[in-house]
Amino acid sequence: MKIFKTKAEVENYLMPLSQSKTVGFVPTMGALHNGHLSLIRLARQQSDISVCSIFVNPTQFNDPKDLELYPRPVEKDIALLESEGCDVLFMPDVKEMYPDEDEAWHIELGDLENILEGKFRPGHYQGVTQIVKKLFDAVKPDFAFFGQKDYQQVKVVQRMVEIFQMPVKIIMCPIEREMTGLAMSSRNVRLSADEREKALVLYKSLSNTKDHFTAETIEQLEEEGRELINGTDDVKLEYFEICDGGSLERVKTKEPASLVALVAAWVGKTRLIDNLILK
Ligand code: PAJ
Repeated sequence: MKIFKTKAEVENYLMPLSQSKTVGFVPTMGALHNGHLSLIRLARQQSDISVCSIFVNPTQFNDPKDLELYPRPVEKDIALLESEGCDVLFMPDVKEMYPDEDEAWHIELGDLENILEGKFRPGHYQGVTQIVKKLFDAVKPDFAFFGQKDYQQVKVVQRMVEIFQMPVKIIMCPIEREMTGLAMSSRNVRLSADEREKALVLYKSLSNTKDHFTAETIEQLEEEGRELINGTDDVKLEYFEICDGGSLERVKTKEPASLVALVAAWVGKTRLIDNLILK
């Protein structure tokens, strides 16, 4: 696996190859788990050259404590990518990606920015789009693989790609879960054994929604999801909503062609998100 630390290096390496080969890209913040690796596998299957990036992007952390606590097991990550047969790893530092500390960035995301994650993490999606744009500019992928785990992020990145008319296809990949149903996340390492147990209520609330989907109204389903989470000690609900799978607007009926249930909650001091496509 080639490892590059600067944009120039990665551009120079990929430019001649991409004339005749397709490039599949998986941007990450490291602390890799099977969810990330499933994206690498898909990138390898669907493109000639697989590229992964590891960069803990400061501009998307609205909580400085979260940024500070973010796990960075670099050696282990490199070994995992090697064993998956990833071709290129781009691992820049903060100066490389943000040479100008006061760089201005604003992109019009409409309501996507004010709902769900956007509401609870102000500025988060501006930071995500800012870094994904820079990474796409350096790697120039044909395909970019993102996890359904961050459903709203996929929609935001798709919007950004439309705005800049970037020639990249965004591919949404399924959520990898532990055997227990807990969605894999780099933040799970912060959970104690007891919290891991309690965190299962997120998936339980989503599965309950799916199980009762035909029999109950949207209002009842949301109510039940919230009750399940609120009834669990040490778990603090931020949102549990059923939304249109395209626009992510809240729905009142089951009419839209695609529906998704999305949840965010604090388990002790760790914030977790999950979602399930209902239709
Ligand atoms: P990170 O949280 O490291 O996630 C990198 C990619 O892995 C994202 O597309 C995410 O949705 C996907 N992923 C995470 N957990 C997953 C799981 N359990 N199953 C399947 N895919 C999963 O998302 C980011 O980093 C950043 O915001 C980034 C896009 C890199 C920009 O900084």
